[in-house]
Amino acid sequence: MPDPMGPAASRRLPGRLSAPAPGWTTSADVVIIGSGVAGLTAALRLREHVDKVLVVTKTVLNAGSTQWAQGGIAAALGPEDTPAEHEVDTLVAGAGACDDDAVRVLVTEGPEAVRELIALGTNFDHDEHGALSLTREGGHHRDRIAHAGGDATGAEIQRALIAAVEAAPDIEVIQHALAVDLLLGADGGVSGVTLHVIGEGVRDGVGAVHCRAVVLASGGLGQVFSQTTNPVVSTGDGMAIALRAGATLRDLEFVQFHPTVMYLGPESRGQQPLISEAVRGEGAFLVDFEGNRFMQGVHPLADLAPRDVVAKAIMKRMLETGQPHMWLDARHLGVTGFWERRFPTILATTRSHGVDPVTDLIPVAPACHYASGGVRTDLDGRTDLPGLYATGEVACSGVHGANRLASNSLLEGLVFSRRIAAVLPDELRPWADPVTDTRNAGLVSGSVRRDLQETMTSKVGVLRSAAGLGEARAVLDELSEAPAEVVGQDAWETTNLLTISAALADAAALREETRGSHWRDDFPDRDDEHWAGHFDVVMTDGATAVTFGPAPATDTGLEEQEVHA
Ligand code: SIN
Repeated sequence: MPDPMGPAASRRLPGRLSAPAPGWTTSADVVIIGSGVAGLTAALRLREHVDKVLVVTKTVLNAGSTQWAQGGIAAALGPEDTPAEHEVDTLVAGAGACDDDAVRVLVTEGPEAVRELIALGTNFDHDEHGALSLTREGGHHRDRIAHAGGDATGAEIQRALIAAVEAAPDIEVIQHALAVDLLLGADGGVSGVTLHVIGEGVRDGVGAVHCRAVVLASGGLGQVFSQTTNPVVSTGDGMAIALRAGATLRDLEFVQFHPTVMYLGPESRGQQPLISEAVRGEGAFLVDFEGNRFMQGVHPLADLAPRDVVAKAIMKRMLETGQPHMWLDARHLGVTGFWERRFPTILATTRSHGVDPVTDLIPVAPACHYASGGVRTDLDGRTDLPGLYATGEVACSGVHGANRLASNSLLEGLVFSRRIAAVLPDELRPWADPVTDTRNAGLVSGSVRRDLQETMTSKVGVLRSAAGLGEARAVLDELSEAPAEVVGQDAWETTNLLTISAALADAAALREETRGSHWRDDFPDRDDEHWAGHFDVVMTDGATAVTFGPAPATDTGLEEQEVHA
């Protein structure tokens, strides 16, 4: 058993971000940070019970990850399907690290939440008989993924939610507003949030919003890595803000790498094109440079195995053959205009990069896709900081465990935002002035961002080892000592990226086993005897501490079923 407090890290990170004093103030009962499926669902629900709801978003309403979701939203909506079967698939994918109760909530409340989205005006695809068209993705044993516009599900959900929010005059929205830090009351709970707004008139620059609760719905941390499917706004801001304010981060080491991200060459950085798992769901398959279908024999579901299994198999084949990517063969789907109808977005993207999937193999390699961990919450989205709630990718509700099941992410945002909205109005805190903030202020230079991303990708990416993680932690310590010369968005985001990277690397170094999306070269097996449980990270005065809490594995017996299916 390891030291329960984890390895001592010498680094001291900012306990709050250096920023000018607020030049303007406003107030709202509830501030929602983020405008994807989680944030806008929370806003639409809360407005029915709360006087003033304010949504703030870093750029524009549709700039987050929801817009980019291709595959769809998973729920037991088919006539043969049941929440219990969805639950089993979720637990198996989560590799023993899910929270059973949270998964049950997700799968049982999921179908109603999706029906509500339809009632709101979301146009999902239907089959020729007029029934909801459901497809399959990795790890699912049923067709249960609802999709829209073929492969533009997130964009359609985002469109419908934005239309509903715009039709609700009582929801205020501030765009181009980066959340800097929480303001805390005398009891340590939330009493507001500072924002930096690129705006006009009175609300320009840093300001303070006084409030009675904050809902974090700010998405994930994909920009921690140099290649990711996440948009540029995914810089882990919500997780870093929560950590600095005293909330707990959980399961950060479980970062999901999507197996089939289009490979654009060794120099390509930032957001990379996703080739949805739904393409494999429709019959595409992976091959190596010799044309071998290497997923066969690896797992009973072959090319549709859970995402971590496929990502690892691709990576292994890349290492064995010395090639920088593998290939996805979907040429047989090219007949009768299937590509045009079912995957118009992916078709346009691959063609824009000179690859026609109707005639060509698509080069693919794993890239960072999703943070299964985040700000620890209970079943109603409460964090352990009074007045702070979290939902969607920023949160760790326990539904994903060590590896999120495909298309469970939009569903999580929907279901848990509804639950927050059901409890929060009765838990609104009394208005309270923030106390003087004594946390150590600091800021890391934006110039270290590229080094940070390269280090995280090469040492804390798909394949990890003690040696690599040690090197990464040393580099992060060094980068944390590069003070910012310019106070502004680049430095604020980079400080958030560094804060989350450090916590992630610390937890990854401690988890000496391979589980789900956490793959340790030096500890290749899952080890329930020592590592069934969670790593939690907290921050005090800029120093982070990691603790391990054992918890029984939640998929006991299910894995066997899977292997012998
Ligand atoms: C995909 O379409 O492959 C991604 C869906 C997801 O991340 O759940």
